[in-house]
Amino acid sequence: MTDLQTRTRIDWVSEGCRLLAQIEQEFSSTKPFQDLTIGTGIHLEPKTAVLLRTLHSGGARVVATGNLNSTQPETVRYLLEHGIEVMAEQTIDQEVHDLSLNQIVAEKPDLLLDNGGDLFAVYAETPYPGLLGGTEETTSGRMRLEPMRTELQRPILVINDSPIKQFAENRHAVGQSMFESYMRFTNRSTNGKRVTVFGYGACGRGVAACFRNAHSVVSVVEADPVKALEAHLDGFITPHRSEAIRNADVIVTETGAVNVISAEDLDRFKDGAILMNGGHFPTEIAVGDLTDSALVACRDRFDDLEIETLRLDDGRAVHIISGGHMANLAGPRPLGNSIESMDLGFALQARCLEYVAQGNATSADCVVPVPAEIDARIAREYLAIHR
Ligand SMILES: NC(=O)c1ccc[n+]([C@@H]2O[C@H](COP(=O)([O-])OP(=O)(O)OC[C@H]3O[C@@H](n4cnc5c(N)ncnc54)[C@H](O)[C@@H]3O)[C@@H](O)[C@H]2O)c1
Repeated sequence: MTDLQTRTRIDWVSEGCRLLAQIEQEFSSTKPFQDLTIGTGIHLEPKTAVLLRTLHSGGARVVATGNLNSTQPETVRYLLEHGIEVMAEQTIDQEVHDLSLNQIVAEKPDLLLDNGGDLFAVYAETPYPGLLGGTEETTSGRMRLEPMRTELQRPILVINDSPIKQFAENRHAVGQSMFESYMRFTNRSTNGKRVTVFGYGACGRGVAACFRNAHSVVSVVEADPVKALEAHLDGFITPHRSEAIRNADVIVTETGAVNVISAEDLDRFKDGAILMNGGHFPTEIAVGDLTDSALVACRDRFDDLEIETLRLDDGRAVHIISGGHMANLAGPRPLGNSIESMDLGFALQARCLEYVAQGNATSADCVVPVPAEIDARIAREYLAIHR
């Protein structure tokens, strides 16, 4: 009998990140980041561990923090063992998180890899001359950084605005992982349930499609009338906001906006409604205002599930998943988006950072999409592996 080896989840993820494996091998000899420091602020979970290891293999000193709530201790231990300097802990305390962001920027990295604009926002307040530029992963980060272009004046490539990220991660993978997270957190059925999705951008479209495929009756609330029309023509119900909330067994926010669900909606929720957010910041559902409302008689917390239940004066219950944090990276055994989708997105990250490090972008490329040649290269390489 052959030996049975014990492997970890990070090993499993590494095995599935086949694009990053190729890049890691190439970077080990080309060393595009030799003598450079890369500061990173992105969820510290297994797929990011593979990305950070890839950057490190390219000669970079990597100093890393995470995002609110999503830092996984197993990943932190792995990164430390692989020569990455981690300045982060699992926290939902914004002040603790801010301290770690300041620590990263104080290292004066040559490149920043950001997720949500956290690091570039600190840089804009405390600039230093050596920054070459970097990348931003998300829609929310792009929206935050666009008004800061005058202060930033560095090449910043927005991974989110690559068509590959749009369809591979936002549409397909976020839909699947938010659906998986609903099942994982609640263990409730989807069949015949009325699900309302707020936002019909790339992520919302995937979420709506996944719940429809699981036999839910899905409605969409979308601020942009053109996208609302698209949802309508895709066969989703597009009721007025208040009606959509009144009928919903499950409400999912996917907008990148703030206070999409507010305390004023407490009058509207159906008894037993489940509120879940997939947007980057934990502010799409105004959880504090909901829990502090005078309409709430008492609260129960299912600690091991990370579900809080508001019991209202009139006997209705409203359940909030993981305090409104991004559900697919929260709660028990958070898996995040599929390995293949993140392999694509993180291959874009690695190539974009290489592009900036090599001086191929200028300060005019401040908060712009991924160059088309990088998209084409990643697409060709992925197809060569998988088709
Ligand atoms: N959970 C994840 O793994 C994950 C992955 C990628 C992106 N995200 C995040 O998900 C969010 C959405 O991303 P996206 O790529 O779909 O963005 P997007 O800009 O393509 O779509 C957002 C949509 O929400 C709509 N909207 C805004 N405010 C609204 C409101 N109050 N009510 C109804 N609709 C409203 C907008 O009109 C837009 O169509 C962002 O915060 C993004 O950072 C999360």
